[in-house]
Amino acid sequence: MQSELEAVKGQLKELTRRERARQREMTAARRKLREFAQDLEFALALERRRASELEQAYYDMVLRLTRASTYKDNETGGHIQRVSFYARILARSLGWSEVDQELIFRAAPMHDVGKIAIPDTLIRKRGRLGAEDRQVMESHTLIGAQLLEGSNSRLLEMARDIAVTHHEHWDGTGYPRGLAGNQIPIAGRIVMLGDNYDALRSRRSYKQGFSHEKACRIILEGDGRTRPEHFDPELLAIFRTIHPEFNGIFEQFQQTEPLAL
Ligand SMILES: [Fe+2]
Ligand SMILES: [Fe+2]
Repeated sequence: MQSELEAVKGQLKELTRRERARQREMTAARRKLREFAQDLEFALALERRRASELEQAYYDMVLRLTRASTYKDNETGGHIQRVSFYARILARSLGWSEVDQELIFRAAPMHDVGKIAIPDTLIRKRGRLGAEDRQVMESHTLIGAQLLEGSNSRLLEMARDIAVTHHEHWDGTGYPRGLAGNQIPIAGRIVMLGDNYDALRSRRSYKQGFSHEKACRIILEGDGRTRPEHFDPELLAIFRTIHPEFNGIFEQFQQTEPLAL
């Protein structure tokens, strides 16, 4: 009897010892797991910070490139800023996410970055360009794309799409490739509308700026040179209702100096 009791006691002791050992192991495993999760979280945060720093560096670099191209083009910082705002309004009206709206806002200023490679004499030339000059001038789209190509940053990818397609027309009459309809990336179609509106409103050495009403009439009804068929019909329908916001932006951002950083 006594020995049986001893045996049970012994077994219980052994079970308790094993249970304690198991709990110790579990605690150690949990601690390891926690440490691992913390390490992972730290690595992720670091990675995220690096990615956003890299994205910011891309943006800064390209903004400087944009500034260089605006000096050359005599384009004002106001124009660059306004095109960003028009693009964001259109993207918002299409139901884009906040992130994508911000992306087009940042990518739009680079639309004419390829002008950096166009000879000054050509950029400053007054009057109608001959066929050869026009071809060189139109190549700013392809040069812009080459400058922005080869990165997997979403910002630069969108900027490249915009650079190469912001003179394409919905009806296929644009350049450089004569793309039509949905062949033209939506970001390019968006910037094309904003860029056109702003060009109509802006004063140039050879013309006065048009009023908001006149710019709208030209875009929505055409004037022989600009035609409604040039624009994405969905964007045109949006423009028809939100155009007062375009006017607000035009009046608000009147910086006449080249783009400031
Ligand atoms: Fe352009
Ligand atoms: Fe422009």
